[in-house]
Amino acid sequence: MLKKSCKLRVISAYLKQMKIDGKEFGSIFLAPMAGVSEVGFRHACKMAGADLTFTEMVSSKALMYESQKTKDLLITSELEDVKAVQLFGHEPEVMASACMREELQKFDLIDINFGCPAPKIVNNGDGSALLKDLKLLEQIVGKCAKATNKPISCKFRLGYGANDNIAVQVAKICENAGAKMLTVHGRTRAQMYSGQVDLESIAKVKASVKIPVVGNGDIINYESYLNMLKTGVDAVMIGRGALGDPNIFNRLKKQPETDLFELVKQHILELSKHYNDRYINVTMRKHLLWYVGGIKNATEIKQQIATSDNIQQSLKLVEQLLKNK
Ligand SMILES: Cc1cc2nc3c(=O)[nH]c(=O)nc-3n(C[C@H](O)[C@H](O)[C@H](O)COP(=O)(O)O)c2cc1C
Repeated sequence: MLKKSCKLRVISAYLKQMKIDGKEFGSIFLAPMAGVSEVGFRHACKMAGADLTFTEMVSSKALMYESQKTKDLLITSELEDVKAVQLFGHEPEVMASACMREELQKFDLIDINFGCPAPKIVNNGDGSALLKDLKLLEQIVGKCAKATNKPISCKFRLGYGANDNIAVQVAKICENAGAKMLTVHGRTRAQMYSGQVDLESIAKVKASVKIPVVGNGDIINYESYLNMLKTGVDAVMIGRGALGDPNIFNRLKKQPETDLFELVKQHILELSKHYNDRYINVTMRKHLLWYVGGIKNATEIKQQIATSDNIQQSLKLVEQLLKNK
């Protein structure tokens, strides 16, 4: 079934603009990634062609408690012309009141996390734990959709247990409760990040609802992008494939690449508008190592970057590595 539709879809390897309520969101999105998708990284990905960007997941409960650290996750870049915030939580009222907060009004889309597999999230009843309580999941979506005029979207995995596949059921529940877009990561919670993404199940979700569906999982190059398009999805979302490589967006769009060192500098510059040096140092260490990840015979310099607490020095080392690549 997938193969037949493939042929039809391959003709248009470029997705159309995904629209919600008449507003255009583009077609290649940067995934929400906790500890990764901060404003500087999103800024770099926007520079390199990403359409819609998502904040990392934000706790609705922590917002209720006015946590400054949580509010800082809502900082956005001026380049983010369309942007989404992702919320997590399991209390419908708390989630709905988060949707109404002033700090969220600058976002074009409010996404709800039903996919996070991390034990500390799941053990609290959040993220993919909600795939085990579809009544509660439905209430969360319904309450959020009623609480705000902004479109609500839901991001979920195929199911909780290794062999669960309730994605179509979840998709219909979300749609009927008022969601305007769905993102499906084609794995179960039990799979975490192992195995291959299940494209067939993503295609089934797409065929079962009227609202736009975003395909997610294992897009790392043009070939895997095309394979995802064959499911018929309206847009794609990229997570790990963008680590250290924001140009993946340009490449998938067949656009010229942006100079990588320029992207690294702009990533840091954007962070420096909002955060202190300590935060920037700690945050950038992992990103810098991803940026130089593919470069061989550079163990010593990489070790220096990994332990550096001077961002200017690290930047020089990165420049040295990237220029001699
Ligand atoms: C470090 C990391 C952090 C993540 N944090 C989140 C998150 O906050 N919210 C979410 O919905 N998914 C999160 N994810 C999952 C990604 O959004 C995405 O669904 C998953 O990585 C599969 O896509 P990929 O194969 O393109 O990476 C995270 C993934 C990674 C690797």
